[in-house]
Formats: sequence, C-alpha cells, structure tokens
Amino acid sequence: MLWLLFLTLPCLGGSMPMTTAPDPENELVGIVGGHSAPQGKWPWQVSLRIYAYRWASWAHICGGSLIHPQWVLTAAHCISRKDADPSAYRIHAGNVYLYGGKALLNVSRVIVHPKYVSAFLGYDLALLKLATPLRASKSIRSVTLPSQSVNFSTEDECWLTGWGMESVLEPLGPPYRLQQVQIPLEEDEDCEKAYGKYLHRDNRKIIPEDMLCAGSLGRGPCMGDSGGPLMCKMRGTWIQVGVVSWGIGCSRFDLPAVFTNVQKHVPWIQQQIRRHG
Ligand SMILES: *[C@@H]1O[C@H](CO)[C@@H](O)[C@H](O)[C@H]1NC(C)=O
Ligand SMILES: *[C@@H]1O[C@H](CO)[C@@H](O)[C@H](O)[C@H]1NC(C)=O
Repeated sequence: MLWLLFLTLPCLGGSMPMTTAPDPENELVGIVGGHSAPQGKWPWQVSLRIYAYRWASWAHICGGSLIHPQWVLTAAHCISRKDADPSAYRIHAGNVYLYGGKALLNVSRVIVHPKYVSAFLGYDLALLKLATPLRASKSIRSVTLPSQSVNFSTEDECWLTGWGMESVLEPLGPPYRLQQVQIPLEEDEDCEKAYGKYLHRDNRKIIPEDMLCAGSLGRGPCMGDSGGPLMCKMRGTWIQVGVVSWGIGCSRFDLPAVFTNVQKHVPWIQQQIRRHG
C-alpha cells in the first residue's frame, strides 16, 4: 500500500517502529542514494531543532538554508503553527556533523507563509530570523536565490542535501554526517502524470502551481530532509531552486519528490526580509 509521506521527522527515533528488515534494494547510503558531503561544500545548509524532553536535548526536525546572514528558509510544515514561539527553535549551522559541537543559534522571529494550509496545497515555506547575524566564513555562507529571468531545465546539474533518513524507517546513523545526492529536475507535466497514477484529484492538479518536482527511483529526499535546499549550478554559482516538501515513499517508487518552487516566492521572501530586517 502507498502512503503519503511528509518528509519531516518530528519524532526522530521516538515511537516509530524500527524493526522492519532493511530492503535489499535499498543498499544505499544517504539522503536516499546519497554520499557524505565534504565540509564546507554546502555552507548554507542548516538543521532546525526543537527541544525534545525525551532526550533532554535539541533534536533535528528539518533542514533549512541560509539565504541571508540573518535569515533561514525552511518549509512551513516544519513549523508547528503560524504563531509559533521563536524561542522553541534553534538552528545548527556551519558543520556537516549534525551534533558537531557548535553552539546552537537562537531564533528571534518565525514567519510562516500566510497562505500555507497544507503542503499538498503549496506555499510550503517559512522564514526564521536569527537573533544575531552570522559572519560569513569557510563553513558558513548564504545561498543565492534565483532571479526572475533564469529558467531551469532537466539538463541542469542539481543537488539535494540533508540529514534525513536513508530510506523509509532507516534513519541516518552516526556520525550523522550531511548527505548529498545529485538529482534531476522533472518536467511539471511528467511529474503530474507520474503522480496521477497513484493519486486522484478531480479537476485539480496534484502538483500545486508553486511547486516543482525532482528526483528519481533511489535518489531523493526522505523524512528529516524537509525544509532543506535543492540547488542547481548556473554558471558556476549554486542557486536554491527548491525547498523539500513532500513525496510518496522516499524514492522507492519511480516518483520524483515535490519541492516548493523558490523562484515563485522570491518577491515574498525579499519583502519579508525588508519588512522585518
Ligand atoms: C538563547 O536563548 C536562551 C533562552 O532565551 C538564552 O538563555 C541564551 O543565552 C541565548 N543564547 C544566545 C547565544 O544568545
Ligand atoms: C526563459 O523562458 C522564457 C519563456 O519560455 C523565455 O521567454 C526567456 O527568454 C527565457 N530566458 C532565458 C534567460 O533563457
């Protein structure tokens, strides 16, 4: 049976059954199908944390990206509610190891897109303002947002990074190193058709207008990668094209994953940063 799967991992190692035998077809390390990322290659990647009383520590729930020295972009479904208390969150930045000993950063403001209702309806993005701006270094830097004139294609070199599960029910193990995988962008029509085989929506598109698809069988995001960046290299610069949002079954089926299309939201993002800068 298929099930829709949000790509967050709100109960990391908690009540999830972990006894399922590994799928022999999934002899893959990674995000799904990924490899360990070199230190400093993705200096905008961050981990979003909430306090887990169960382990008395700040637990990873989602990925995110630095898009400005003081702002993190993530998915709206990573945030519990629109009026979430900023002090309930922390950000880990500047280290490929998830528990790499760097001090966690405080968040002073949380902005969930006002039109967000459910990831399946789009607008799955949120901004977090850091209490203090970060100084750029070898391991910390913001990613470039797409300009309105650039067109991305299925030929572009695109990568996904995250600390999410390596397959359904298989969390990333110690030393919890950031994983990277190259994945192809998918044409909107092909993606709509692929999902149409599994989901039915009368007179409504399955993939919302402000989302895009990328990934393939055995390559893509899984739970815990939500909110993290999909990046494409354009003339030597990494541009963040997507924010991990949802999918079915973590690349076990020949279905791409669905991402918030960042380009469609750049004006809103810039407006928020100006207003709350
Ligand atoms: C982060 O916030 C907590 C709780 O409000 C505070 O105790 C701590 O000093 C802050 N950390 C930094 C680095 O400002
Ligand atoms: C992007 O695509 C649009 C519409 O297809 C086209 O008009 C425009 O010239 C393209 N821009 C670039 C930079 O290729």
